[in-house]
Amino acid sequence: MSGNTNLRITEHPILDFSKTDSRKVTITVNGKRIEAYEGEPIASAILASGIKVLRRTPKLKSPRSLFCAIGRCSDCVMTVNGTPSVRTCVTPVEDGMIIESQDI
Ligand code: FES
Repeated sequence: MSGNTNLRITEHPILDFSKTDSRKVTITVNGKRIEAYEGEPIASAILASGIKVLRRTPKLKSPRSLFCAIGRCSDCVMTVNGTPSVRTCVTPVEDGMIIESQDI
């Protein structure tokens, strides 16, 4: 797998990783195919792949990435399989997901 895998989240105050499947799958982020582990947070897979910006603000296009990592802010929201404003820090990876940045 490419990217810095030591950035992956292995413990979380809300998410239960005991059910996490370690099966490698492929997701597409802004047209780029990346490997991920099924069940890990989408944001974790994206950051581990080397992509650091998850969305940009609408007015100034300022980059945003992981902030709270517990589903409380909106810095990680992305469009997932056509559904906008999905909090990628608390949404688990599924094989074949199509994920796109959004400016909100
Ligand atoms: S980083 Fe705050 S909701 Fe995801």
